Amino acid sequence: MKKNNMVCVNNFSLALGDFHLNQICLDIEEGEIFAILGPTGAGKTVLLESIAGIYEGEKGVVFLDGKRVCDSAPNKRDLAFVYQDYALFPHMTVMENIKFGLKMKKIDKNKGNERINELITLLKIEHLMNRYPANLSGGEKQRVALARALVLNPKLLLMDEPFSALDPKTKEQMYQLIKKIHEAFGCTIIFITHDFNEAQRLAFRIGILIGGSIRGVCESQALFHGNMEKDVEDFLIRKEINMKMVSNLN
Ligand SMILES: Nc1ncnc2c1ncn2[C@@H]1O[C@H](COP(=O)(O)OP(=O)(O)OP(=O)(O)O)[C@@H](O)[C@H]1O
Ligand SMILES: [Mg+2]
Repeated sequence: MKKNNMVCVNNFSLALGDFHLNQICLDIEEGEIFAILGPTGAGKTVLLESIAGIYEGEKGVVFLDGKRVCDSAPNKRDLAFVYQDYALFPHMTVMENIKFGLKMKKIDKNKGNERINELITLLKIEHLMNRYPANLSGGEKQRVALARALVLNPKLLLMDEPFSALDPKTKEQMYQLIKKIHEAFGCTIIFITHDFNEAQRLAFRIGILIGGSIRGVCESQALFHGNMEKDVEDFLIRKEINMKMVSNLN
């Protein structure tokens, strides 16, 4: 049975100074994990922020669960955003950081506490609750940022290069955790990465963004197969060679 689209980006165009997102069309199914790949400056973050309704396009529209995302006030949108630098509030403890969104959205205290307890266990952050972000490791900050995002039970989780600052072992643990979170909460996930292996490991499908345009969408196993235009192949082939070189070194 075909699932509903959680995100529908319909012919969306946007200009920011000299940069343009060009007629983006993307349908992302409910429960899907979708990766956005592309060179630096391609517009990946701007696209993710557009999906979150931060920018209203000049043309086209972004639908979230069937409704225009910009029609809802930001605190009513059923999504959460995890930034690359985690964007935790430095003057708040871990517990206060996690509770912040609950207050903003006026979520029932008992329900909120239940959810916090569930997440604390899943993300293994019990021992960090009274600490401040400044003295957490990158992996710990990442888990706290995820707890803060997931406490609102969003239908859509958006993550901008969530694992780029982590060492390989911690990355590996985070992949397992994301899979667990996806199983437990069933939310739709869109994430940006520069890591082809990571995209293939986590995502069902991958979209390639170059120069503000979506240049291809494929099943994640098919990333290095099939014909694509020259600049897309250059982008992928270079990476493939790099990956081979790395595996030869190991
Ligand atoms: N508010 C803005 N005003 C003008 N230009 C902007 C604005 N925000 C982003 N840009 C420009 O848009 C382009 C795309 O930026 P974006 O941050 O989306 O790239 P990216 O693909 O996420 O790159 P990276 O992989 O380095 O994070 C860049 O050239 C950036 O300078
Ligand atoms: Mg970016």
